[in-house]
Amino acid sequence: MSDKWQALRSHHAQVAGRSILGLFDDQGRAEAFTAGLNEMRLDYSKTNIDAVGKALLLELVERSGLAAKRAAMFSGVRINETEGRAVLHTALRAGVGDVITVDGVDVVPEVQATLARMSGFADDVRAGRFRGQGGAITDVINIGIGGSDLGPAMATLALAPYHDGPRVHYVSNVDGAHIADTLQGIDPATTLVIVASKTFTTIETMTNAQTARDWMAQSLADPAAQFVALSTSAEKTAAFGIAPERVFGFEDWVGGRYSLWGPIGMGVMLAVGPAHFRDFLAGAREMDRHFIAAPLAENLPVLLAAVGIWHNQICDYATRAVLPYEQRLSRLPAYLQQLEMESNGKSVAMDGSSLTVQSGPVVWGEPGTNGQHAFYQLIHQGTRVVPCEFMVAREGHELAHQHLLLMSNCLAQSEALMRGRSLAEATEIMAKKGLTGAELDRQARHRVFAGNRPSTTLVYPKLTPQVLGQIIALYEHRVFVEGVVLGINSYDQWGVELGKELALTLQPILVGREDMAGK
Ligand code: F6P
Repeated sequence: MSDKWQALRSHHAQVAGRSILGLFDDQGRAEAFTAGLNEMRLDYSKTNIDAVGKALLLELVERSGLAAKRAAMFSGVRINETEGRAVLHTALRAGVGDVITVDGVDVVPEVQATLARMSGFADDVRAGRFRGQGGAITDVINIGIGGSDLGPAMATLALAPYHDGPRVHYVSNVDGAHIADTLQGIDPATTLVIVASKTFTTIETMTNAQTARDWMAQSLADPAAQFVALSTSAEKTAAFGIAPERVFGFEDWVGGRYSLWGPIGMGVMLAVGPAHFRDFLAGAREMDRHFIAAPLAENLPVLLAAVGIWHNQICDYATRAVLPYEQRLSRLPAYLQQLEMESNGKSVAMDGSSLTVQSGPVVWGEPGTNGQHAFYQLIHQGTRVVPCEFMVAREGHELAHQHLLLMSNCLAQSEALMRGRSLAEATEIMAKKGLTGAELDRQARHRVFAGNRPSTTLVYPKLTPQVLGQIIALYEHRVFVEGVVLGINSYDQWGVELGKELALTLQPILVGREDMAGK
């Protein structure tokens, strides 16, 4: 373990018991521990990180070689060394005139051409020029899983106020219930099926795609005419029978969980239109530029990563809760689970050595205020500390008075977690209710909140396509920074392979032995 890690551990040992609230004796704390980009603000003042801790964390980040690795990623170096690939999801949102080369070839013109082709197709579908065998497309079913589902499903829901295209449904699970329920009440003659799979080999997706084709074939002469493919494999999409003009390809330098910005975002584009999709890309591009240019002490992805490292690897808090006070971000925690846990859930460093610190944390969450009436009990009074990442918009899309209630709940939670309620305060409350003696003491103890529980709050202006792009890119780069500090490869996912192999071995054994399934 490097001396930087040791220095952080010794600092933590000295400050672990102190009160976060006490840190606010420094009048400038709230401002000093808040950073921003445009109207977006990340407040990390309600953590036990002080100026010394922040300096140590930023030194750790700097010494990890972040600047060089960030430059390598953005310029197309093959930083995904275990798969021999560049990592260039940022090229999918590059600006006109940007030049990004892989093996000496500028990839931006091809990206822009694909985006233009996607836009043309989406416009045709939305305007009723591309029609199903029964008329204009009313429903789109995106069949994909993991990165080919979670990102677009999350973003489609997040941007509901901008929907003016066909209804877009997402099917991922190989559990037949998922597709069966989705197909209920949908007319195959006006449905477009998107088969979204980077590899076009994923068993769940290919099985559901076949089921959708069979469903269409029951009533349509040419089911394949209403299929679209999003994939890196032109060969396999052709073998499935999808015409090349409805295949939108991308390169292997786009990782599955980072693929939302290109063809895999087709469902989002169909729902909200190409112009809003471009705003979404523009927001992410702003975050990219901020990540490249802002000094570490003001750099949102770096600061979010620093807080994450402090809580996970230094304080040893094993999980982090992502708590968006935004119902339309209800799929964000699931999306971030893949982004963070598939990227940084690894025990081996890039050079093959074992990690000497913990890998990335367990990420989970639900939108507020729903979570408040479910699991916040544990967050406030459980024996484990769960660092919370709140997020909330300054403005909602509708019902302004309800939005104020939503915001006040969000802000109250971070305050309550930090302040807690002492035994003296709880005793006073219960005494006012007329309790005395041992019963007063007993009842008061149940109403004590330890407090001193850390949280961050991300406040953004309004959940527009642009702001959503910023938020997602912020989290992508946070994962990158944490991965660099841990010295791991955030862009492979070997840990998913073994289960897949075993399922393939077991499946033929279960065929014809349905009586054995589940025994
Ligand atoms: O099994 C994990 C995984 O490979 C993810 O990384 C990926 O997002 C998902 O499966 C789907 O893969 P594909 O887009 O190739 O179907």
